[in-house]
Amino acid sequence: MTDTVYLNGELIAKNQAKISILDRGFLFSDGIYEVIPVYSSAPFRLEQHLSRLQYCLDQLSIPNPHSNIEWKNIIRTLIERNGGGHLSIYMHITRGVGLDRNHIGGESLSPTVLVMASPLTINEQAIQTTTATLLEDTRWHHCDIKSVALLSNVMLRNQAEQLGHGEALLHRNGVITEGSTSNIFIVKHREVYTPKQSNLILGGITRDVIIELAENAGLRLHQENISKEQLLNADEVWISSSTREISPVTQIDDKIIGNGEIGPVAKALHSEFQTFKKSLIQD
Ligand code: PDD
Repeated sequence: MTDTVYLNGELIAKNQAKISILDRGFLFSDGIYEVIPVYSSAPFRLEQHLSRLQYCLDQLSIPNPHSNIEWKNIIRTLIERNGGGHLSIYMHITRGVGLDRNHIGGESLSPTVLVMASPLTINEQAIQTTTATLLEDTRWHHCDIKSVALLSNVMLRNQAEQLGHGEALLHRNGVITEGSTSNIFIVKHREVYTPKQSNLILGGITRDVIIELAENAGLRLHQENISKEQLLNADEVWISSSTREISPVTQIDDKIIGNGEIGPVAKALHSEFQTFKKSLIQD
């Protein structure tokens, strides 16, 4: 049961949690969020998630309402109150509640803080593959900010769903950026490629873990532009995120990727990922 949420200092039932209609998050999407995976009650890469949260707040000049110690306590309490185990923690911070609807202002507001938990449905035994559609990236130019303004992401993800696919892979003028809810990797001749960090992609925490694991495994990893053609002709394609870990993409629209099966590099890194997770839980 994941029924308890944290809202502005209080632990309350999810269906009792309310915010003001004047909240700038509600009116303007003036806020940011984080999603943190929790394995066996232990948050994964918490420091990195909290630093990305700080980066995003800084981009919007929203003061961080809590110190890292306070955040850790809130998250720990929420994990306990929601039964522990494997969870996904959702953190949502907006600039706060204004006096009226007004684009400008908001400097002296007290940020609204919501933290929720939901079950993390990851099958650690079997690698979860998916298929994707390739769509034009219609998002804004600050995709490095984990903004709650997700309208384009939602439209793209729904378009993929309607076409029967599990993700929308995105490109700008033929250059691949990321997925609508994930980062992207490709493999060609056993070398790994992922788009370099820029304002056009989110600096995924899972992406960073995969880069580390790939380099530790002695794989050559390139952070550079990937074209549509390179994507479609790759030996392997995978997406990564906190809620999907490493998920191989076996087909993009009508094009089968590689031989349509889970590739050897994805298999090896998935296994490294599981070992790495377990090593942290035992610490
Ligand atoms: N999304 N790119 C986008 C656009 C994303 O929405 C996400 C994750 C990622 C991967 O980031 P990370 O590895 O830190 O989860 C990349 C989360 C899971 C979400 O919106 O629910």
